[in-house]
Amino acid sequence: MIVYASRTGNVRSVVSKLEKESIEISEGLLLKEPYLLITYTDGLGAVPAKVSHFLEENRAFCKGVVVSGNSNFGHTQFGAAGEKIADTYEVPLVCKLDLRGYQADYDVIQAFYETRVLA
Ligand SMILES: Cc1cc2nc3c(=O)[nH]c(=O)nc-3n(C[C@H](O)[C@H](O)[C@H](O)COP(=O)(O)O)c2cc1C
Repeated sequence: MIVYASRTGNVRSVVSKLEKESIEISEGLLLKEPYLLITYTDGLGAVPAKVSHFLEENRAFCKGVVVSGNSNFGHTQFGAAGEKIADTYEVPLVCKLDLRGYQADYDVIQAFYETRVLA
């Protein structure tokens, strides 16, 4: 399962290219199976509030995080939500996408998904 948050559509586009079972974060969502989280980065490298709320209730089945950001924000803020989630919830940061990312990123995500989420 892929669980995602998307505000302006980049993450949604990535998720549709991956062609896996997926669900968008909404209030009160409770997951009872392993999942890969894909999120965007909010201002000053922040984790979107809805993603933090979701993780507080759903950390048990989170196997890893993929983050999208914009490298124009500079090295320390680029995709910083990914490092914050990885540190706080002790899950691997699978990859950092610049906006919608590239094919090489999708290959990394696919491999992780097959070995660490479905396994
Ligand atoms: C208000 C705002 C603040 C943002 N702040 C950051 C940031 O601090 N670091 C970063 O890497 N990207 C930042 N971004 C870029 C988004 O994370 C990036 O465009 C992402 O691909 C959006 O995903 P989405 O289209 O699925 O919402 C910001 C975008 C917006 C609109």
